[in-house]
Amino acid sequence: MVTMTSVTLGDVRVVRSVDVQSYVGLKPSTARKSVSLLRRTETRPLMVVRASKEGDISVKSSGLSIEESEAAAVAGNFPDPPPPWRPSAPKGTPNVKPLPLTRRPRRNRKSPTLRDAFQETNLSASNLVLPLFIHEGEEDVPIGAMPGCYRLGWRHGLLEEVYKARDVGVNSIVLFPKIPDALKSQAGDEAFNDNGLVPRAIRLLKDKYPDIVIYTDVALDPYSSDGHDGIVREDGVIMNDETVHQLCKQAVSQARAGADVVSPSDMMDGRVSAIRAALDAEGFQEVSIMSYTAKYASSFYGPFREALDSNPRFGDKKTYQMNPANYREALVETEADEVEGADILLVKPAMPYLDVVRLLRDNSALPIAAYQVSGEYSMIKAGGALKMVDEEKVMMESLLCIRRAGADIILTYFARQAASVLCGMKSK
Ligand code: PBG
Repeated sequence: MVTMTSVTLGDVRVVRSVDVQSYVGLKPSTARKSVSLLRRTETRPLMVVRASKEGDISVKSSGLSIEESEAAAVAGNFPDPPPPWRPSAPKGTPNVKPLPLTRRPRRNRKSPTLRDAFQETNLSASNLVLPLFIHEGEEDVPIGAMPGCYRLGWRHGLLEEVYKARDVGVNSIVLFPKIPDALKSQAGDEAFNDNGLVPRAIRLLKDKYPDIVIYTDVALDPYSSDGHDGIVREDGVIMNDETVHQLCKQAVSQARAGADVVSPSDMMDGRVSAIRAALDAEGFQEVSIMSYTAKYASSFYGPFREALDSNPRFGDKKTYQMNPANYREALVETEADEVEGADILLVKPAMPYLDVVRLLRDNSALPIAAYQVSGEYSMIKAGGALKMVDEEKVMMESLLCIRRAGADIILTYFARQAASVLCGMKSK
């Protein structure tokens, strides 16, 4: 069971080997007992646990080859044990008795191998979804407010960008179209034109890269002359059920073109069940729904609206998107989306809303997505360009933290750049 040997070093008793390994394989009740026994024993006042093994780590290797080491060992020349010295501390360091700590969490952080072994969260290219802006033109047009992002020509730039993303392991994309003003209308009918920009782009991509996973955005804003996600009544109200009717047609049109996951980002009530029923009625049982479950009325969407020229013509989106002050309300949306048949629940934005990501993670068994939105992306880019932060490190940390909060997948404009870093390539 618990083996504890103590040796005496000067006037300090040191607990040497607490055999935690021996708990493995014990019955849970026995293990619990042993742990509590261990705790009781460990808190006895006289016992002091040695701080760390810095001394051992700074021991130099003899520099022998494997063969030389083996030969030396066969000849009976074993290396000496690490010397009991401690590296010297700078002048002025106070000389103190070691603190009588039971827990020293730093022990588990003392070398890169241990740190890697105990890393709780990981990021891989398979967790990333790359949002792409497309337009009817031939050129790729840089988006001023989003350095490194372009409105891609759907025939050329789009295919090339997807090729580069796949090259670093990103095989999931989400499409956002910039629609010419002439095709926008109050009811947003262009959203379900089977030969519209998005269905055409999906067909082209699926033909070129059949194994790619294409997510689509389901909302009227790129197609609405009012710049809202739904149909606007004369008194300014965004009409719910009438909008849902349009969204169903939009989702079916995208599914028909070959979309894998349709993603309602509009925040109308009841749209998930209506879209599910519409897809099923057309035979698209296998098409998934990623619902923007907790989408907040956020100022972090600013650069995106510039990219698509989709700013609301009047007012804001506060009657359908959630109030940034609200947390519990995300549960109301979660319950509705689960009951209505969503396959994936999304939180948006991501970094300022990590508590909401965790809330959904803890309250649903469904996969959770988080959208690191345009404003989050541009702030990191700007901070990097101004040399205020290390862009690459902050990018990777932000994504890891979103994973830690509980997101399975992350929609991020950094997808390709981050995946390059993960492959050990230069990020830009
Ligand atoms: C709208 C939509 C928005 C984004 C994705 N879909 C903007 C909005 O709600 O106004 C924002 C994404 C981003 O900022 O990166 N359907």
